[in-house]
Amino acid sequence: MGNFGDLQNEIYFRGLSAELPALPMTAIGLDAAAKNVLSAQAYAYVAGSASSERTANANITAFDRHRIVPRMWRGSSAPDGRDLRATVVGTELAAPVLTAPVGVLELVHPAAECAVAEATKGLGIGTVVSTASSTPMEDVAAAAGDWWFQLYWPADEEVARSVVERATTAGAKAIVVTADTPGMGWRPRDLELAHLPFLQAKGLANYFSDPVFRSRLNAPPEASEEARQMAVLAWIGMFGNHTLRLKDVARLQEWTDLPVVVKGVLHPDDASALLDTGATGVIVSNHGGRQVNGAIAALDALPGVAAAVGDRGTVLFDSGIRCGADVVIALALGADAVLYGRPWVYGLGVAGKAGVEHALRCLLADVDLTMAMAGIRSVTDIDAAILASN
Ligand code: FNR
Repeated sequence: MGNFGDLQNEIYFRGLSAELPALPMTAIGLDAAAKNVLSAQAYAYVAGSASSERTANANITAFDRHRIVPRMWRGSSAPDGRDLRATVVGTELAAPVLTAPVGVLELVHPAAECAVAEATKGLGIGTVVSTASSTPMEDVAAAAGDWWFQLYWPADEEVARSVVERATTAGAKAIVVTADTPGMGWRPRDLELAHLPFLQAKGLANYFSDPVFRSRLNAPPEASEEARQMAVLAWIGMFGNHTLRLKDVARLQEWTDLPVVVKGVLHPDDASALLDTGATGVIVSNHGGRQVNGAIAALDALPGVAAAVGDRGTVLFDSGIRCGADVVIALALGADAVLYGRPWVYGLGVAGKAGVEHALRCLLADVDLTMAMAGIRSVTDIDAAILASN
């Protein structure tokens, strides 16, 4: 594969025959386009965050306090230019980027997770598949390259174990345990529409296809409308889980040999304790501001967590990545890789797989060309020395 930045030439040359890109070139443009085509409920579910959305906004503005200081005459004339490759908890990626786990993708497009799996596979980057996916993980796995499984830990231990074992068997390369969702945050945009997709049995494919979950039901969910509603009730009974503790992360390692990464870590002491318990890494994230409004911007939490982890484990980052510079800044502040969230979801909503591919290619081209113009030859060369921060 050539440089991701080659997308630039591709677009300009197409322009010679009066061909314009079919989709917007920025995250903001993709958001606006998605708002036009999605139902009010679907758009609110994706775009909304907790309460006044102060943390969601802070996730974005936090990047303004760090600026890249470009260095000159350090580029490479080698045909393959920059080196974006990264190995993240044992997964080799063409760039240090994975798609963030996003549930209920059927809300925005019927191709849902399989479109994301195919797009990321084609680009050589990773995808993190949500427990709340609209497609059973085994079907996503069949379409995916390197994928990780994100676990919302069900309160029913045997279901939790079954789901983790299925992910391991289906070929996941890591288990991402989301720690910041013992329940659902206060989300006014969804509340105003009185809309929670799970109650319509959306995003429950991994539960409804699970043999242990099904053994809890009197009738299979597909038997009748009433059976489906009973299955949703069973799901409600096990989704919220306020009882998880550090020792559970250790127990997870009895269920799977896969590396365990904990998502939603904002305090250095939590990160440190998780590594002591055997986690391979942490994801600094506030869930895009969807859980605790008023919480610290994820980027502001990153340097402290990265210092606490040191070389004992892997640090990933999400919440607020919208352009190439954001990726470079997160890497400079200590992330080994980032998860990309909402913009590709908007791409999926607007144009299915092609939209996901477009959103991802734009981000990767932007990263590549930002590195090229700033004199950075390899993602492994990126550290705090490239930044001016205040
Ligand atoms: C999410 N996120 C999420 N996280 C998770 O661990 N499991 C999940 O199922 C979901 N589902 C989900 C749905 C939607 C619609 C959104 C927007 C987000 C959180 C996600 O993985 C990531 O942390 C955030 O999207 C990062 O914030 P930004 O950059 O998208 O604003």
